[in-house]
Amino acid sequence: MPELASPFPVVGNPSPLVMSEKPKKVIRRVPTGIPGFDDLVQGGFEEKTNTLVAGYAGTGKTTFSMQFLYNGAVQWNEPGVYLSFAESKDSIYNHCLNFGWDFYALEKQGLARHLFYKAHQVNKLLEEGGGTVRDTIAEIGAKRLVIDSITAYGLLFRDDYKQREALLLFFEMLVKWGCTSLIIAEQLSGIVDARAGEIGFLTDGIISFSYAQLEDDVGRKTRQHQLEVLKMRGTAHYNGMVDIQFTKQGLICRKAVRDGE
Ligand SMILES: Nc1ncnc2c1ncn2[C@@H]1O[C@H](COP(=O)(O)OP(=O)(O)OP(=O)(O)O)[C@@H](O)[C@H]1O
Ligand SMILES: [Mg+2]
Repeated sequence: MPELASPFPVVGNPSPLVMSEKPKKVIRRVPTGIPGFDDLVQGGFEEKTNTLVAGYAGTGKTTFSMQFLYNGAVQWNEPGVYLSFAESKDSIYNHCLNFGWDFYALEKQGLARHLFYKAHQVNKLLEEGGGTVRDTIAEIGAKRLVIDSITAYGLLFRDDYKQREALLLFFEMLVKWGCTSLIIAEQLSGIVDARAGEIGFLTDGIISFSYAQLEDDVGRKTRQHQLEVLKMRGTAHYNGMVDIQFTKQGLICRKAVRDGE
């Protein structure tokens, strides 16, 4: 006998038990693939978030960010865009070759793109709501984005008011582009430090790069590259200092061990 349709249509979820449970949003983590780093942040950055990569000159910000793009492309097939306001394509790509990261090859495979904006082109970028950046992200289906650097971008604007306005507009665009982004910020002076702090308020995470001065067994002074995760929304991240080692294959992170530990 055919089953008759119920005269009382079921509306919503009939089980009160299930109704009371809030559906949990599954947050995908985007790993960097940098040895020793992802475990510090529960497996990676939350998808589509922005993280500030801040630090003084030569602390390893660009290397970290390019390793994030390279590993994303090679290990997870995720295309990435490197948006530069200071360093030309050949300069950055050739430095990457030192670590065995061939971005020229990745470009040919549609897994990477380099965009270089000069001072006079930045207003156009804002007026067009992202212009070439937006189109490139769409064209290669970029999932990862690096901005190098937001400081260089900010310095392209004459006065404080224009800088703030341009920064806010930039962040609005960034959110719309929908990538998992690393935003590099230089720490040059007290003034720029304060500004990096302002930017950190806008981002979901902050990683601070620095170097510690150490003395070896025979009293020679050396510098140890380090990073620290200062903030990462929604993430139980490691709070201590992390030593960074430059190897032939890129960076390796290790929790710093203090004397007596
Ligand atoms: N192949 C390498 N082997 C060892 N150390 C390296 C190598 N390449 C770079 N470094 C170290 O990394 C530093 C530069 O790293 P990187 O360019 O990532 O820093 P940065 O923070 O982006 O600097 P900037 O603010 O000047 O752009 C160098 O000063 C050097 O100490
Ligand atoms: Mg750099």
